[in-house]
Amino acid sequence: MENRREFLKIACVAATAAVLPKVASASHFAQGSVPPDQDDISTGGSLRAHATARNFLVGCAAIPQKFSTEPPYAGAVADQANILVAENAMKWAALRPAPDRFDFHAADELLAFTQAHGQKLRGHNLCWHESIPAWFAGTVNKDNARQFLTQHIQTVAGRYAGKIHSWDVVNEAVDTKSGRPDGLRKTPWLEFLGPSYLDLAYHTARQADPTALLTYNDYGIETDSADDAAKREQVLRLIQGFKKRGVPIDAIGVQSHLSATGPLPGRGLRDFVRELRRMNLQVFVTELDVNEQKLEGSEQECDAIVAKIYKNYASMMLAEPNVTALLTWGITDRYTWLNGPKLARLDGRPQRCLPLDANYRPTPVFFALRDAIDTRRKAT
Ligand code: G3I
Repeated sequence: MENRREFLKIACVAATAAVLPKVASASHFAQGSVPPDQDDISTGGSLRAHATARNFLVGCAAIPQKFSTEPPYAGAVADQANILVAENAMKWAALRPAPDRFDFHAADELLAFTQAHGQKLRGHNLCWHESIPAWFAGTVNKDNARQFLTQHIQTVAGRYAGKIHSWDVVNEAVDTKSGRPDGLRKTPWLEFLGPSYLDLAYHTARQADPTALLTYNDYGIETDSADDAAKREQVLRLIQGFKKRGVPIDAIGVQSHLSATGPLPGRGLRDFVRELRRMNLQVFVTELDVNEQKLEGSEQECDAIVAKIYKNYASMMLAEPNVTALLTWGITDRYTWLNGPKLARLDGRPQRCLPLDANYRPTPVFFALRDAIDTRRKAT
């Protein structure tokens, strides 16, 4: 493992040195932060090193297809994370090219990478209403949905049994605007199987992989806005129902796609996390980033605002002992979904929402996150 890690590091440094300036420009750093050189952030000064020293899991969503084609990418993901999650490689659309065929190529590559680098791996996800393959609509129906769902979970969670830190078993099942009293989102799974599809998914996942922490993952539950508060309440009711019925659930994933210009997280989420602790549940920050699409100001001003949101949010969450992992939704601004067509900044500048910029230089987010990690009390 160490040899491979060393090799990657050398490849990464060589490739990076060829195209990138060694030291980031001072304009990229928030007030008070010192721009360190690349060596400092990739070894003892990495997010990974700081988190590992505190028995905390820090990581990011990863794109396995980049590992062999872009050494700086592989190097960054290896250096900065002690836990990874597939941004897309474990979704139905990636794994199911045809109703009767699975393609585990990218998912297996990701698992191999984590094993080679001593990292944990989260599974995302087993049941979602998005990222389902084109054949799904004409193939899955009321009569066979149960079979499709259970077979998928048995096959996928079964294949990786014992090797996954946690599975997002069901993703985004709550929609307070659905008009249903139970707050469940109207999805194909709900339409075909009714609300019991949730219990079915969790029981099947537990059987297929008894050691993975089974997680419910959702967004829009972070801030103190009325909408987020209502959704938190609905998610809590869902989880209470799981507990009451003996449905296996170990953790809640708070996605944490925050907005630099929207309402911010606060007491509501903190109380929610504490309530989950009383229910003996862990909490993972699963997809953290800060959307600065509508944020006005110079790059330096925007960077400082985004970094401050990271620092406040991560510090608040890491102060709670049942928050045991924090993952950003990507490691480099080069590949963030926030630079996609619908979410790009209105002024045409790229979004700078992740620890490393598009050229793998640390952004103020990096130092904000590292400072927040340093506030974590070591678990006893
Ligand atoms: O891989 C194909 C490629 O072959 C094709 O040429 C290209 C053309 O559009 O599409 C590629 O697939 C895209 C995929 O990302 C990989 O880039 C899909 O169209 C696109 O829909 C997909 O978007 C992902 C989205 O989830 C839907 O699955 C984003 O990358 C990913 O960041 C996003 O992640 C979600 C989490 O899973 C759940 N929480 C919200 C979060 C952000 O939306």
